[in-house]
Amino acid sequence: MNGSTIVVAGATGNLGGRVVRVLRQRGAAVRALVRHGTARDKLQPLEAAGATISTADFSSASQVAMACAGASCVVSALAGLRDVIVDAQTVLLEAAVEAGVPRFIPSDYSIDFTKFPPGENRNLDLRREFHQRVDKAPIQATTIFNGAFADMLTGQMPLILFKLKRVLYWGDADQRMDFTTIDDTATFTASAVLDPSTPRFLRIAGDQLSARELAGVASDVTGKKFRLLRAGSLATLGLFINFARTVAPGEKELYPAWQGMQYLRNMFDGRAKLGPLDNDRYPDIHWTRVRDVLSTRRAQ
Ligand SMILES: NC(=O)c1ccc[n+]([C@@H]2O[C@H](COP(=O)([O-])OP(=O)(O)OC[C@H]3O[C@@H](n4cnc5c(N)ncnc54)[C@H](OP(=O)(O)O)[C@@H]3O)[C@@H](O)[C@H]2O)c1
Repeated sequence: MNGSTIVVAGATGNLGGRVVRVLRQRGAAVRALVRHGTARDKLQPLEAAGATISTADFSSASQVAMACAGASCVVSALAGLRDVIVDAQTVLLEAAVEAGVPRFIPSDYSIDFTKFPPGENRNLDLRREFHQRVDKAPIQATTIFNGAFADMLTGQMPLILFKLKRVLYWGDADQRMDFTTIDDTATFTASAVLDPSTPRFLRIAGDQLSARELAGVASDVTGKKFRLLRAGSLATLGLFINFARTVAPGEKELYPAWQGMQYLRNMFDGRAKLGPLDNDRYPDIHWTRVRDVLSTRRAQ
């Protein structure tokens, strides 16, 4: 087992906490980097998993560098807007370089935003902006693209309308999209963290399904017939996005309604589709299919 320390920023979050747990299960020494004032109940599960806690001011590169000392990799699972994705992550990156950490994994975990130009997805534009800094930094960086979190299909993502027994789509009902569960993303991330020879980009998808295929899986799992519901063309979706952004801007929110629609547009237009996949890079990972995710919902 790799004996060096892994620094995890965003360890108190949903994905970051899972990355910490997998790393600890694999015997890695983990330092959870948290901000001042973090509530005790967020730290307790990390300590219980065997991580050590390091508190720092995320606006101070020298403070964060001290927390990064001796690490073999800094992995970020921070979530937020410009102040986090660009500003706090830049401090983290500079601190990692200052501390001589050889490897850095930014908080990307998304569709492949290198495939479309700026201006189409606010949250992903911030990542692209941060990448300009990452790519100039003297550190080995690896981005993980996982498509959408599959878990959202039974929650925030309004694609499978369970009550109406419809699957909503825009544009092409046969355009496949990438879905990976949060757990699988965390497991793959932990594997990449412990792999010293990762490339600049890694692409994973637990499942790749079109709206038509989602309707088939939802029908199989529930035993009830799900049909397609075409909400319009991608151009119509673009008009909806502009309208929603005007009437309910929520520019300071991470996921206002129009932001969710921007993700959907990128997924339905196919440019962000992942490939070739690196699913087989770590053979011990068993990929969770969308069918499994929907079955879990049914069992609840
Ligand atoms: N592909 C997808 O479908 C999908 C869906 C959701 C998320 N994601 C991505 O997954 C990654 C992790 O997201 P998540 O949902 O796990 O996020 P989360 O649960 O909201 O956790 C965010 C983490 O960032 C920390 N943080 C936020 N602002 C900070 C700041 N200013 N300074 C220091 N720490 C700060 C939080 O610390 P505190 O606990 O102190 O607040 C927390 O540890 C992000 O890149 C996100 O965009 C992808």
